Amino acid sequence: MSGKKTPVEKLTDLEAGAELKELAEEISSHDDAYYQDNAPTLSDGEYDALRARNQAIEAAFPHLVRGDSPSQQVGVAPTSGFSKVTHARSMFSLGNVFSAEDLADFLGGIRRFLKELTDDKNIPLEMVAEPKIDGLSISLRYEKGKFVSAATRGDGSVGEDVTANLKTFKELPFELKGNVPDVVEVRGEVYLSKSDFAELNRHQEDAGEKVFANPRNAAAGSLRQLDETITATRPLKIFAYAWGELSEPIGDTQWAFFEQLKSWGFQVNELTQICGDLAELMTVYDEISGKRAQLDYDIDGVVYKVNRLDWQERLGFVSRAPRWAVAHKFPAEKAQTIINEIDIQVGRTGSLTPVAKLEPVTVGGVVVSNATLHNEDEITRKDIRVGDTVVILRAGDVIPQVVEVILNKRPKGLKAFKYPTICPICGSDAVRDEGESVRRCTGGVICDAQVIERFKHFVSRGAFNIEGFGSKHVEAFFDEGLIKTLADIFRLSTHEANLKTRDGWGKKSVANLLAAIEERRTIPLERFIYALGIRQIGQANARLLAKQYVSLGTLRQAMKDAAVIGSDALSDLNNIDGIGPSVAGDLIAYINEDRNRELLNDFESQLNIEDFEAPDDSSSPIVGKTIVFTGTLETVTRGEAKAKAEQLGAKVAGSVSKKTDYVVTGPGAGSKAKNAEKLGVAILSENEWLALIDEG
Ligand code: IVH
Repeated sequence: MSGKKTPVEKLTDLEAGAELKELAEEISSHDDAYYQDNAPTLSDGEYDALRARNQAIEAAFPHLVRGDSPSQQVGVAPTSGFSKVTHARSMFSLGNVFSAEDLADFLGGIRRFLKELTDDKNIPLEMVAEPKIDGLSISLRYEKGKFVSAATRGDGSVGEDVTANLKTFKELPFELKGNVPDVVEVRGEVYLSKSDFAELNRHQEDAGEKVFANPRNAAAGSLRQLDETITATRPLKIFAYAWGELSEPIGDTQWAFFEQLKSWGFQVNELTQICGDLAELMTVYDEISGKRAQLDYDIDGVVYKVNRLDWQERLGFVSRAPRWAVAHKFPAEKAQTIINEIDIQVGRTGSLTPVAKLEPVTVGGVVVSNATLHNEDEITRKDIRVGDTVVILRAGDVIPQVVEVILNKRPKGLKAFKYPTICPICGSDAVRDEGESVRRCTGGVICDAQVIERFKHFVSRGAFNIEGFGSKHVEAFFDEGLIKTLADIFRLSTHEANLKTRDGWGKKSVANLLAAIEERRTIPLERFIYALGIRQIGQANARLLAKQYVSLGTLRQAMKDAAVIGSDALSDLNNIDGIGPSVAGDLIAYINEDRNRELLNDFESQLNIEDFEAPDDSSSPIVGKTIVFTGTLETVTRGEAKAKAEQLGAKVAGSVSKKTDYVVTGPGAGSKAKNAEKLGVAILSENEWLALIDEG
């Protein structure tokens, strides 16, 4: 943008809107140049002037604040300048509980999983409680006692190599002394204290540099610096709380592990303590939440972990979270503001989602200007109207929600909100099926919103994870007709010359994007299935399907066969533990639809879709086998047996069919055992089962 600018107070709505759009694009392209190419195209002063202008216009025209406004971008832009590291052991996340009731369920689940705790209610279940630090997780690798590398969490499997940055830390032990296994990965949370954060922001402000919204963003921005001399000036610290790869075990309990960490010189949170039952955990929770304000670091909850490591090991993981630990989150923060507008967004499956455009307000250190309204019924139930003053709630990183209307602040004459019955994007009918809470656009592929959302999902982290392929690229490429179907992404290189002439696009960013796309031509089947964005097929279901069908070819053939009611293929699909008839219906419909068939052919000719590989090596005797458990097991619970079988690469089914390899029976086994006999399926006693998996 150049030339003299109209004073903000003289701008019309139309001009202000147009300028905000230009500013959003311009600032974002400078951000890309700065963060992704590490090559700033403007001086800091010029950049700040753009942001200041954006802020001034937004303050004067709050109803025009854009979803993609730079003021709405929380956190740091993704940096691609770090090399990637595959974690030797994945970095997991934690499930959440929000109440004593949820916590009781969580503890009950552990007791039900471990047979000895189910049988004897008097055996105590010891837990360790500690604050949940609001920072960013890190994995530190030591070999023969020497610090060798550090990586961020990334997507949990692959993180960024920040070794050079960690080397600048002041309070980190770089050499472990005493009893040290050959390989030790220590995991913890990098954070910036509240006082250091305030000091850093003062400094940034004086220097005319950007200020950070909260300590976590500041810690992230300080750690993920391509120039580690900047990291060196920031007083980052670490609380250690977990481990990754270990060449030999450290201690028998979580507590002993913490003691070991302390003796090596790591900082372990001083509020950590051992607790017994639910009541004790709740007391510690209250205690820690009471201290929250006085602590010099941000925390957002309390984490509870099973103390005994042999129990942790047996409990294992579900999806990406341990069964043996959970985060008890603090209640969300609230604020009041006004709804300026209700926007209807169309998702990739056509779902219409109402979003409240708010008068921007700060909630817990973050400026919020959008909140979800969930669905049509929610608006009716709460009688939410444009112009209302509402209470909004922000919990952790989730999208803020509108919880209630302050009726006595309602201006006279506000009209009830009329929910659209046609798609605001493509104009097709938007219908609501019996029993469904969501209204959906029926436009399918003619609806640009659905298509664009499908692209965004396809390139996203859990799916193809194409680095640098952000929403704005999707929108621009789609608008220009460069990508019409998902598979066109892999033909973008044919437009290389055209891409290089785009405004604000350097040769380097085009080359980076095309390289990132090339890198993903080989893709594991489960990611591929998830990326298609089929209704109800999230990551967990995609994995179940990949595990069951192993290759895309087999999956496609099976879905073709399963379209016939009463077919074996259909009963096999329904028999996958975790897939119900409704999911099966959506999947069969998707795969057999003509256009999708063409799309899948197109992908098969362009990509190398890797067959599913069972996680454990072939030394497992039950890789790929289908197992049914029936009757009561005597040494372990059904839950533990199932988890163990899955961990060893087997599939666990709910009913016996020709495809079942083993039926494991205990006392009280009924029709399933009989069925197995009829079909000639191998029947194992519990002892035979344990011998088979080498635990007998
Ligand atoms: S334990 C396998 N303990 O919370 C369990 N995590 O929501 C590993 N976090 O990714 C995590 N404080 O970054 C653990 N005391 C604590 C924590 C903590 C913060 C973070 C961690 C994790 C996230 C999960």
